[in-house]
Amino acid sequence: MNYFSTLLLSIALIFASCNQESQDALPSEVDPQVTTVDAHSYSNTNEIRTEHLHLELDVNFDEKIISGVARHQMSSHTTNQAIFDVKNIAISKITTGKEDEKEAKFTFGEHSPLLGQSLTVEIEPETEFINIYYQTTDKAEALDWLSPELTEGKVHPYLYTQGQAILTRSWIPLQDSPMNRITYSADITVPSELLAVMSADNPTKKNKEGKYHFEMKQKIPSYLIALAVGDLTYIALGENCGIYSEKELADACAYEFEDLPKMIAAAEELYGPYLWDQYDIVMLPYSFPFGGMENPRLTFANPTILAGDRSSTSVIAHELAHSWSGNLVTNATWDDFWLNEGFTVYFENRIMEKIYGKETADILATIEHQDLMASLSDIEKSDFPEDSHLKLQLKERNPDEGMTDIAYVKGAFFLRNVEHAVGREKMDAFLSQYFIDHAFESITTEVFIKDLKEKLLTPNDIDFDIDGWIYSPGMPEKHISVESARLDRMIDLAKRANASEDIIASDFKDAQRNDFITQEWLAFIRTLDANISTDFMTKLDEQFQFSANANAIVKSDWFKLSAKTKYRAKQDEMEKFLIKIGRRWLIEGVYQLLMDSSDKQDHDFAEQAFEKAKNGYHFVSRSTIEGIINK
Ligand code: BES
Ligand code: ZN
Repeated sequence: MNYFSTLLLSIALIFASCNQESQDALPSEVDPQVTTVDAHSYSNTNEIRTEHLHLELDVNFDEKIISGVARHQMSSHTTNQAIFDVKNIAISKITTGKEDEKEAKFTFGEHSPLLGQSLTVEIEPETEFINIYYQTTDKAEALDWLSPELTEGKVHPYLYTQGQAILTRSWIPLQDSPMNRITYSADITVPSELLAVMSADNPTKKNKEGKYHFEMKQKIPSYLIALAVGDLTYIALGENCGIYSEKELADACAYEFEDLPKMIAAAEELYGPYLWDQYDIVMLPYSFPFGGMENPRLTFANPTILAGDRSSTSVIAHELAHSWSGNLVTNATWDDFWLNEGFTVYFENRIMEKIYGKETADILATIEHQDLMASLSDIEKSDFPEDSHLKLQLKERNPDEGMTDIAYVKGAFFLRNVEHAVGREKMDAFLSQYFIDHAFESITTEVFIKDLKEKLLTPNDIDFDIDGWIYSPGMPEKHISVESARLDRMIDLAKRANASEDIIASDFKDAQRNDFITQEWLAFIRTLDANISTDFMTKLDEQFQFSANANAIVKSDWFKLSAKTKYRAKQDEMEKFLIKIGRRWLIEGVYQLLMDSSDKQDHDFAEQAFEKAKNGYHFVSRSTIEGIINK
């Protein structure tokens, strides 16, 4: 920085410090004890809060309705109102009391398309139990009801829920804030051909009555309450871990996740004992909007992670890592989302390194870093450039908008840089202690910063730019780099192709798709630029069969490149992909690039594909893609 800009900056800082709010304190010096408010919940958890929730629910596939009662056991309080969150739920009555229930008065607040409604129940200061009798509606955003054609078996229907971030309120009336932690139990009745599993202790076999009881004895935030119902079988993969899936996918699952026991052992070695007893995975249908979701004791997973070559096992390392970062120590509000995801991506990489070595871990980190650079440049140009701060400001916005590479990759990269500054040994000791100190707590970014300073930076006399990383845009100038020689080679090949060199005749002569791992292909495909010829795309596709046979991760990048380069010969395969797969991160870029095209025929293609696909998507993906198409 030259003298003149330094002067301008100092003037700007003087003005900023005249401003009442900022005083002299940097954001990282704000008192973490100041009462935190969750802008995404109406509930009054500071006055009265649910301690235990008991659900008695019937799952009706013919009508696509869940109905029954949510029994809330409340903390002691002095208030005469309990406020819950609901969204598109039909309530028939509310009572208070345990053995002898009395009807209670209740009112709804105004409906917000984002937050739903407040539900205010009138109670006495001595009220302990509040029972809400309700049923879900066809607008329940958490629920994905799948007809048999959309399953592997094609005989039975399937249902799963997705609660994070603020969708649990669309299938259970509750205080839907990650600040409040509850235990729960449930009695769930489903058709007898199907098995029900939850983020709790689970059955491994169906029973004739279709009645299942669940207990989650550890306190969790509401977004982690989850249910899946389908024609599921269970395979144990180790003493305390296994997989639920339709039988058609059971072998593929058992192969892909063979290393699961090793992963659990590696995670425990890093940051302490796994505190949730059992770790299982349930393989959902392709419509599931995420690669994985860390529901406690039972990760929900998308079959696209069955790449066949174990190249997506890092998704499982990621969801497992959430058993510490996220489920044990939870973001208090969605503005602190990076505490969940950044820590988890960092932890995920450490697990991968431990099991598969540094080369693999660096390959994964390098791909993530590429994603981050692309996201940073998009965010800088967007309406919300402050979204590149780790600490977000999502008030009046959908918390989903915080699900970017900032929370994930900038967050992880921040921790990598701290590790670099203090050394691995001290970093690991600090993190292990952090998980002990805040176990079963929901905390803010500011609580973490206080810990970081007091327990790691100050004692080791390290000056670290916390404000630059957490409360500022982009990346601090000083940071470490990640590299991978294997990816550099692919990037180099792509650059030579961009310069019209015939690499198919030279380096790729006799090469096959399986000669390279998924991440090598991603690095190659992403580096190819929009100007490469259709002829080159055709030749690549003929040789490597990307459009027809690559795994979904590679296909996603390949179809993005196809949209950019207007390679349309395999649009039938692209359409099949968009119809089959609902995992948002794999499809949204494809739709976006088609809609960005200068040719109307690409827009028409995207619209038609979406028309055919949309009923098979979960609300989360459907609404994102709708936003892209209608813009
Ligand atoms: N918890 C997230 C998924 C999520 C985030 C759902 C925010 C709703 C709101 C999950 O752990 C996740 O990050 N999934 C990633 C995995 C990847 C980063 C390895 C995914 O689905 O792609
Ligand atoms: Zn995650």
